[in-house]
Amino acid sequence: MERERDIVVALRGHTIGVPAVSQIERLQPVECGVHCQLVVLDSDVRQSEVDQYTKKQPVIVGHGAPIDRAQPGAEVFARFGRDSLSASGLNIASLLRHYRRPLSNTGGHDAGTGRCASPVARTLCRMALAINPRLPQIWHGGDYNPEQWPSATWDDDMRLMQAAHLNVATVGVFAWVALQPAEDRFTFDWLDTVLDKLGAAGRFVCLATPSMAQPAWMSRAYPDVLRAGGDGRRRHHGRRTNYCPNSPNYRRLAANMAERLAIRYAEHPTLAAWHVSNEYGGACYCETCASTFRHWLRQLYASLDELNQRWWTAFWSHTYTDWEEIDPPYANGESLAGGLTIDYARFQSQSMLDCFKLERDAIRRHSRGVPITTNMMGTYPHLDYRAWAPEVDVISWDCYPWPSADPGDIAFLHDLNRGLKDGQPFMLMEQTPSSQNWQPVNALKRPGVLRLWSYLAVAHGADTVMYFQWRRGRGGCEMFHGAVVEHGGTSSTRVFREVSELGAELERLGSAVIGGRTPARVAVMFDWNNWWAIDTAVGPIQDKQYVATVRRWYRAFWRQNVGIDVIFSDSDLSKYDIVVAPMLHMVKPGVGDSVRTLLERGGTFVTTVFSGVVDETDLAFEGYPGPLRALLGVWVEEIDALYEGQTNRIVFADGSGSFACGRLCEIVRPETADVLATYGDDFYAGTPVVTRNQFGAGCAYYVATDPEDAFLDEFAKRLLADRRIEPPLEAPPGVEVAVRERDAHTVLFLLNHSTEMAQVELPVDAQYRDLLREMPVAGTVALEPRDVRILVHLR
Ligand code: GLA
Ligand code: ZN
Repeated sequence: MERERDIVVALRGHTIGVPAVSQIERLQPVECGVHCQLVVLDSDVRQSEVDQYTKKQPVIVGHGAPIDRAQPGAEVFARFGRDSLSASGLNIASLLRHYRRPLSNTGGHDAGTGRCASPVARTLCRMALAINPRLPQIWHGGDYNPEQWPSATWDDDMRLMQAAHLNVATVGVFAWVALQPAEDRFTFDWLDTVLDKLGAAGRFVCLATPSMAQPAWMSRAYPDVLRAGGDGRRRHHGRRTNYCPNSPNYRRLAANMAERLAIRYAEHPTLAAWHVSNEYGGACYCETCASTFRHWLRQLYASLDELNQRWWTAFWSHTYTDWEEIDPPYANGESLAGGLTIDYARFQSQSMLDCFKLERDAIRRHSRGVPITTNMMGTYPHLDYRAWAPEVDVISWDCYPWPSADPGDIAFLHDLNRGLKDGQPFMLMEQTPSSQNWQPVNALKRPGVLRLWSYLAVAHGADTVMYFQWRRGRGGCEMFHGAVVEHGGTSSTRVFREVSELGAELERLGSAVIGGRTPARVAVMFDWNNWWAIDTAVGPIQDKQYVATVRRWYRAFWRQNVGIDVIFSDSDLSKYDIVVAPMLHMVKPGVGDSVRTLLERGGTFVTTVFSGVVDETDLAFEGYPGPLRALLGVWVEEIDALYEGQTNRIVFADGSGSFACGRLCEIVRPETADVLATYGDDFYAGTPVVTRNQFGAGCAYYVATDPEDAFLDEFAKRLLADRRIEPPLEAPPGVEVAVRERDAHTVLFLLNHSTEMAQVELPVDAQYRDLLREMPVAGTVALEPRDVRILVHLR
């Protein structure tokens, strides 16, 4: 007789449901003879549809992070390896006994809203939400380079890591020559010892492949592995990121090393994540790259005629008559051609991504179930990380703000990293515990700043707090970079104390926030291809300030303490109330349609000066703002550029104020849009500068200039008020309130970025628990300068 089936309701593309189910499907018939049925729902499922299942039978509602890959099977091991289940004291039989009862019964359709009913379920959820179920808590770790030190230091490291409450060490980043001193000689013994020591000390390993810096023997034996600079000349050996991403020798040797590491350490009990290479970046202009680029172009463009047309090469007689005539955009060659430059940037980003994929796949062949990442660098110009995101299991990034950074800019970068995988929590892979060494002036992080900025990352979606570097080397150009352990080798330093206190706190926080999602109704768009197009444009002003402009718009909303997602031009816009796309200069195919859908659904869209100008190969639209023209209801006739210090004014027609603007001022002709504000000065005084167009059920704003911050603040407030979007709590200026949601809990982060005491009033009648102080709180919360409180709202 067919047994009654459990029903597992999972959201399409979410991790917990899918892998849990695959695991159950795989193991149940063997171990328990129980079957379950998987119901996969789309993420816009309505509550009533979920209820249909939840009313009938016991269910498990999937929560967790969305995955990108369409093969749920691949996630099984990653999230629910058998080992990890038994390691946690769970076995499949007991798991299934609990699965026979409702584990999660909220039926909420949002990731992270399920409430777990049993301890087993809670453990399971905790594990599923972790980056690796082996370590279901916030990772606290750092780059560890034992290969630079005599082995006598290693035991000291273990003792100090214990004292610093570090639970993860990133090992191997620059260990290529230590692991392979000659092409046919491999020396893994020292790494075996280090990993065993870490394991014995109860620590986990983020194991790196060493491919960022090739050994000298390799550059000597295979000169094609060396990178060539912008003039096409091959560089000498040295430094790092000095390899050609298209060199067959580099690729072969890097993939081989990755594979050997995977074979050797796949089953190592300490292994928590793979860290492929390090900060991919830059660009190579060598002959191998040039010929590979030609091949790449032939795949992309159907014919040379097509390429000539898309790149507008008739200009200055640059028409190509043979594919072999096409060179990279050498600094001393074809350096002003937009289409070529942008395609070369795409090609280089893709070439490095291919290097990553080669190593990743070599690892995956032997190591299943361990997430694979590579550390990114925020708004790094050379790589289109949005195109990279689907290829990594978890986003990780290195956060090095200038000591004087506006915390809003740091928040922006965290949100950008969270956005790369559409909201999935990410790893803060590196930050300095004290100072950098590569800035002109390397100020120390003031007392409390490390803690504050670490929680800033966690508040915005980080599930790890990790450092570069564990121990300062005695030589090399990073000997003055901040480290947890400085040259004196002692734990009695301010920095060590701050790190260990933070580590102890993170331990107390346990798994309370990991996997938590960050709700946002506002989105700010950033796009690498758009950035490249803006930066290659010759005119109308040299300093285009794309990234700075996006950040300024972001910060205006951030100052209002509302949740913001950073999104990309291919993101689903329709789930937001407000989408701001500053300087959306390049409008790629499909983007106009997604803005249209947003508007038809009643959303608000804002774009600004220099938008809708070119298509994806940098050809100007015939009339700006191109595909956005009908949606915005305006036509841009001319673009004026202003000298530094020169301003115009934005004057609101309703008398609500006048604001300075500058740099670029467009002369706009409204077609269907209403004029909200006009210029105050110059020959175009009285002509529109801010317009609003009703489109579908929504409205689209055009801000035809670069306004001062006071305007951005007022404008953000106005848009938020229109959409009734409010901050989670009222807080004084300088205090950020950020939210992560999980297990039907709302976790509030109160971050006092100021050096003054601050107070936040909690809503009357609401009950909170302070997770760091482990006590209930209500009424007024006092925050010391740079203090952080983490409160969970009890319902
Ligand atoms: C980067 C690298 C590290 C180190 C730090 C220094 O993030 O990944 O190896 O060089 O910068 O800030
Ligand atoms: Zn090259």
